[in-house]
Amino acid sequence: MNFPLKPGMLLGTATAATQIEGGDQNNSWYDWYRRGYIKDNASPETATEHLKRWREDLELMSGMGIQCCRFSVEWGRVEPEDGVFDEQAIARCREEIQAMAEQGIKPLLTLHHFSNPMWLEEKGAFAVRDNITYFLRYVHKMVESLGDLVSEYITINEPNVYAFNGYLDGSWPPGKRNPLDLARVLTNLTAAHIEAYGLIRKTRLKMGYSDTKVGFANHLCSFSPKDPKNPLHRFWASRAEELFQGNLTRAMCTGHAAFPIGRHPSIVPGRYCDFHGINYYTRSTVSGPANGAAEGVPVNSLGWEIYPQGIVEVCRKAYQLLPRPIYITENGTCGADAFRARYIAEHLEALCGSGLPVERYYHRGFCDCWEWTEGTSARFGLVHVEYPSQRRTVKPSGEFYRQVIAQGGVSEELYRQYCGVSYPTAREDAV
Ligand code: BGC
Repeated sequence: MNFPLKPGMLLGTATAATQIEGGDQNNSWYDWYRRGYIKDNASPETATEHLKRWREDLELMSGMGIQCCRFSVEWGRVEPEDGVFDEQAIARCREEIQAMAEQGIKPLLTLHHFSNPMWLEEKGAFAVRDNITYFLRYVHKMVESLGDLVSEYITINEPNVYAFNGYLDGSWPPGKRNPLDLARVLTNLTAAHIEAYGLIRKTRLKMGYSDTKVGFANHLCSFSPKDPKNPLHRFWASRAEELFQGNLTRAMCTGHAAFPIGRHPSIVPGRYCDFHGINYYTRSTVSGPANGAAEGVPVNSLGWEIYPQGIVEVCRKAYQLLPRPIYITENGTCGADAFRARYIAEHLEALCGSGLPVERYYHRGFCDCWEWTEGTSARFGLVHVEYPSQRRTVKPSGEFYRQVIAQGGVSEELYRQYCGVSYPTAREDAV
C-alpha cells in the first residue's frame, strides 16, 4: 500500500463532551449511569477528566500534528437550568477553543451529541415538538458566544442512533420502546436540524461572518444482503437501510421526508447541509428483519465488521443525493491496538482513491474514553488511558497517525512497519 492523502484534506480526531470531560451530573447520561445501565459501571462524571486535563490533552494532540478537532458542548453544563446560562462554563469552552487555534487546530463544534440537560429530559426532550425551541435558544446562545472562534458546526450527532436506541430499542436514555415516540423524535430532530441550520448561518452572518458551514453527523452503515441472489435478503437489506438511514438522510439534507417522519412546518424542500458529516464504522449483513456481522468476517471487540470499502459506498450515496464536500466526522475501531493502524490505512486508502471530495477525516478517537453504555470497556483511542490514574500514553496507532499526517499519506514503509497485522475474525480474538 502506498498513497498520498487528497490535496487539502485535513486529518484530526473526534469526541464528545460527555465521553471525556467529567464533572457533570446534570445530564441524561449521568442519570442512565445512576440507574445502573452502564456495562462496567464506569461513571461519566469521571470519564477521562478532560475538563481538568485539557491542556495536557491539547499538548499531546498538537504533538501528534492533529490538524482539526471535532468536539461538543455539554448542553446541561452551559445551561444548567431552563433559560439560565452559565457564563463561566461558556468562557471555559472559549479558552479551550482559543488554545486549539493557537496550535493551528481547526475546530468543528457539535451542538448535540446524545446527551440532554436533565431539565429538558424531564420535559420529554425531542419527543415533544415544542421543545425544539429550547434547542434553538441554546444553539443561538452558543453561536453568539463562540461564533467568532468557530465557523463549522454539527447540529446533531447521529439522530438515527439517538432515536432508535432511546425510543425503539430502549437500551439508551430514556429507555422507551414505542414506535410512535420514535416517529415523533425522528420528525422533531429533522425539524430541529433544519431550523438550526438556518439559525447558525443567520447568527454568524449578523456577526459579520460569511464562511459558516453547517451539517449533521450522520451515522451511515453499509447494508448488504447475505445472499445477493436471494430476493428476500435484498428486500430486507434495502428496507433496513431505508428505515435506519435513507429516509432520515433525505429529510435532513433536502427536506423530503416520508413515513415514519411526519409533517412539520419546517420540513420543506431545501438544502440543509454545507457538507456531509459521515460517521462510518461497519457493514451489516441482512437476511431478515435482524442484521449484524456475517460469519467469519473481520470484526472488532464489539463484533462490528471491519469493511473499509463500505465507507466509500455510504459516502457515494450521500454525495449522489446532494453534491457537498464530505467530512468523515467519525471512523475508528475498538479492541487491540495492533490492527488499528491497518484499519485507518485501509479506510483512508478507500477514501483517497474514491474520486469523492473528501475534505476531512476525524478519527474516533483521540484518547480511550467513556463509550456510552459500554463505559470504559471499549477502547477506541489513539492514546491509551489508564484508569484510575488517567495516565495517557500514545499507542503505536497514534504514532502511525502522526506519521501519516507528517508525510501526507501512507508509504510502503509505514504500512509495512505498522499495518501488517491480521484482523480478528471472532469476538473472542478481538479483546
Ligand atoms: C458515537 C460516538 C462513539 C462511537 C463508538 C458513535 O455512535 O457518535 O460518540 O464514541 O459511536 O462507540
